[in-house]
Amino acid sequence: MESVDKKDVLILAIESSCDETAASVVRNGREVLSNVISSQIALHTQFGGVVPEIASRKHIEKINQVITQALDDANVTLDDITAIGVTYGPGLVGALLVGVAEAKAIAYAAKKPLVGVHHIEGHVSANYIEHPDLEPPFVCLIVSGGHTHLVIVKDYGEFEIIGRTRDDAAGEAFDKVARAVGLGYPGGPKVDKTAKEGNPHAIEFPRAKVEGAPYDFSFSGLKSATLNYINHARMTGEEINVPDLVASFQNAVVEALVSRGVLAAKEYGYDRLAIAGGVASNSALRAAMQETCDKEGIRFYHPSPIFCTDNAAMIGVAAYYEYMKGTRHGWDLNAVPNLKLGER
Ligand code: KG4
Ligand code: ZN
Repeated sequence: MESVDKKDVLILAIESSCDETAASVVRNGREVLSNVISSQIALHTQFGGVVPEIASRKHIEKINQVITQALDDANVTLDDITAIGVTYGPGLVGALLVGVAEAKAIAYAAKKPLVGVHHIEGHVSANYIEHPDLEPPFVCLIVSGGHTHLVIVKDYGEFEIIGRTRDDAAGEAFDKVARAVGLGYPGGPKVDKTAKEGNPHAIEFPRAKVEGAPYDFSFSGLKSATLNYINHARMTGEEINVPDLVASFQNAVVEALVSRGVLAAKEYGYDRLAIAGGVASNSALRAAMQETCDKEGIRFYHPSPIFCTDNAAMIGVAAYYEYMKGTRHGWDLNAVPNLKLGER
């Protein structure tokens, strides 16, 4: 058993913003002692997406087990924990409430400080887990099911947003296209796998640029073009080559993400670029980012796939840096479904 030094700062972190019930113990902001994730994906698959009501009910059912497991795996008890970190937004309100109420109850009963964490700050912080050398400032591209943001991480928990999506999030586009060709939910990993057998240059899909906003994204045009292509083929009885189709779609998304991320690093003068969020586990995106960053002399950082999709370890890392800065939340902490990045 690893011994816990009294000087160590141990965060017990809880994440329940969408369809994963997760808890983790993180030591001194960088060392993950446990990372427990109870995924509800199988439950939502039959509906083709997350059903909020079902998500909340499942969180309630699982959360105590998940937390007990996280403490056990880390070989610690609640006594050893310094503070409780919890995602309080953005996300599904009913899902967030389960984690927030649980965190408040534990913090109150065990007399521990409570630190609310922004979910996206968590995603960015996932990069610190496996890269001890990575410290702010750097550029980060956050690409998840609900968010597409290009930010400069000025300091721990301090962001300057320089670009965002004007319509769909990158992950949302993956999910919708996957659904249209019958690959199922969640679409991202399925598209990633199927695209490996396809030709990314088979179909020339549009590359949208937002006039006057070089760092903004737009994926709705690409999504519509892909769906139109499918409908047209179906109407004319043409057979669709699904691997070619999803490889071409994925290639267009990857090009948009890589070009803006690298442009931001160059124009703003940073030699480090990180990616975060569920879509950051996409193999084509990682390969293309690595290749372009190598050419441009930029160091490229990405978390392991398990830390890209929703998890509580990333919340524990973010909570540690917030805790060290003095952030504390009261018993009135509430779920904030549309919490903006940088808001407290
Ligand atoms: O970060 P995340 O777990 O949840 C949110 O905070 O939204 O991201 C989930 C999103 C889904 O849209 C999923 O399809 C996408 O990430 N995703 C992927 C891959 N793995 C997950 N997209 C592309 N390629 C992947 N390998
Ligand atoms: Zn997420």
